[in-house]
Amino acid sequence: MSTVTKRRKISTASIRARKGKEKITSLTAYDYPTAKLVDAAGVEVILVGDSLGMVALGYPDTTHVTLDDMLHHTKAVSRAKPKALLVSDLPFLTYGVTRRDTILNAGRLIREGGAEAVKLEGGVRVREEIRALVDCQIPVMGHVGLTPQSVHQFGGFKVQGKSEEGADQVLRDAVAVQEGGAFSVVLEGIPSYLASRITREVDIPTIGIGAGPDCDGQVLVTQDMLKLFRDFTPKFVKVYADMGDEAVEAMERYCRDVQNGTFPTEEHSF
Ligand code: KIV
Repeated sequence: MSTVTKRRKISTASIRARKGKEKITSLTAYDYPTAKLVDAAGVEVILVGDSLGMVALGYPDTTHVTLDDMLHHTKAVSRAKPKALLVSDLPFLTYGVTRRDTILNAGRLIREGGAEAVKLEGGVRVREEIRALVDCQIPVMGHVGLTPQSVHQFGGFKVQGKSEEGADQVLRDAVAVQEGGAFSVVLEGIPSYLASRITREVDIPTIGIGAGPDCDGQVLVTQDMLKLFRDFTPKFVKVYADMGDEAVEAMERYCRDVQNGTFPTEEHSF
């Protein structure tokens, strides 16, 4: 039996308690087998990110992802019964319109999807929505800085908080997320020094992606760090294994074996 199967279930409280003590690890998963792998590796937070729109569904950005997409994938991940905390993204326009919609949509990710917390993008503008969700007993992870659902507003996937004014805004956003009652906040695509400052100034754990080494934890898209998604690899990604190339090579070998008659053999026959 692996040590991982014995580890305790991770809760939002245990993530919150790691601030300043131990670094938090997070990876994405959108399906049952990937969730099993991520959990077996001992990762603490599995994020069903709306990045699935790009790396699993082939959309150009995350604004195309629907609540039904998120439900479908969150259900698959929750069937893996991970020890990791399961967080699911509220996709574009499923929050930020009316508070009632936000609560009901987040509630569906929890009740139907099996998520244990939801993530939403924005700071000052979503503070009261975060508060409303937390009041309804739905834990929230915030997400500030380069928020991919704002791609059209930003005019591309651009690092945020580079100017003094921009940095103040990202800091205000992170503080607003904390004031709303979120248990943690993702800092994406901001300079390292700003992430470091925010990490010192807020009491909740910061989870960085393209935000330097000083955050309380890190998150990556699994398909990026395993290079299963090969269209492009963002600068902030470290590729831990080139499984995309390995997969193509394996498939080429399979094609050769079938063509020259070396597969199947007796071993694979009845
Ligand atoms: O959608 C996602 O995968 C995310 C992470 C990159 C933080 O939001």
